[in-house]
Amino acid sequence: MSQKVSLIRGDGIGPEIVDATLSVLDALGVDLEWEEVRAGSAAFEDLGTPLPEETLLSIGRNEVALKGPLETPVGTGFRSINVAIRKHFDMYANVRPAQVLPGVETRYSDVDMVTVRENTEGAYSGIEHTIPPNRAAAESIILCTRWASERIVRYAFDYARRVGRDKVTLVHKANILKETNGLFLEVGQSIAREYDDIEFEDLIVDNMCMQMVMRPERFDVIVTTNLFGDILSDIAAGLIGGLGLTPGANIGANASMFEAVHGTAPDIAGEGIANPTALMRAAAMMLEHLDYNDEAQQLEVALNTVLKEGEHVTGDLGGSATTSEFAKAVVGALR
Ligand SMILES: NC(=O)c1ccc[n+]([C@@H]2O[C@H](COP(=O)([O-])OP(=O)(O)OC[C@H]3O[C@@H](n4cnc5c(N)ncnc54)[C@H](O)[C@@H]3O)[C@@H](O)[C@H]2O)c1
Repeated sequence: MSQKVSLIRGDGIGPEIVDATLSVLDALGVDLEWEEVRAGSAAFEDLGTPLPEETLLSIGRNEVALKGPLETPVGTGFRSINVAIRKHFDMYANVRPAQVLPGVETRYSDVDMVTVRENTEGAYSGIEHTIPPNRAAAESIILCTRWASERIVRYAFDYARRVGRDKVTLVHKANILKETNGLFLEVGQSIAREYDDIEFEDLIVDNMCMQMVMRPERFDVIVTTNLFGDILSDIAAGLIGGLGLTPGANIGANASMFEAVHGTAPDIAGEGIANPTALMRAAAMMLEHLDYNDEAQQLEVALNTVLKEGEHVTGDLGGSATTSEFAKAVVGALR
């Protein structure tokens, strides 16, 4: 029986990179059935809501989704639909691997880290308001529960064990945010004692930023809060050659969603020049999640072959290929 997957094409470059990714999945011959649903700005314009009920029902039914990036209005307008979907399905672990890929020029040759970001609370809890008159002040609440902290730290350690990684670095700001980040750190230190086969350290986030650009090779699995994970994973993407390369998985107990780390790239949307690698790698993570391990491996190998040859890469990697030319090259490289 074919596996049904909810598909959200998304905004900006979303439809372009989704088309490219679907062409490669199609060539791989995986027995997937796409259930296309809408979300984001395009859905808002056409349907009057950025997150139609049908989209949530579809993800709930299929328990797995592949998603293009979604636009979020800055400062005003509707709240992030990405955050809303992750919270609705309690997709608590945002897993973002960043490793140097063959043929991609970077400042560093030895980066291979995975950010595991708490995805449901912290500074992104959505508990915020302004204080009158005239928005004289504004408050956002950082929420940190022992339960969610335990769950994400345990996920990071179990993930490290499962994929054969040796070290977990917990990143926090417990020197200043003594209550919320203090609790996150305390939980992390206590759970670390249960995993004596995995090295553990904790770092304050400002030091972490410096260490990541000075000695990125010393990091393996990073576990951190929602806001810090959002930022640190973009730094990690920069270390390996940019946002066009970095995938992300949102893992939950009942549903999981796979996407690129990057956004809608409005500056290049519609030009057909976006790099689809990040979404293709997210699709490989999805295949692994669905136990299509061979196909996931084939996709990674084909991607690496095209990146290494360097003849059909997109502008962000110094090439001149279009999104669809890149996808054709990946299809050609599938064994
Ligand atoms: N998960 C998501 O859906 C997600 C994630 C981040 C941002 N966003 C949204 O995306 C919109 C734009 O955000 P932004 O401009 O800050 O970040 P962005 O990631 O869209 O773009 C940042 C820079 O990276 C480049 N870039 C991104 N993806 C690329 C790709 N695949 N190939 C080549 N170049 C690429 C862009 O051209 C741009 O110069 C905002 O509305 C934001 O809320 C969505």
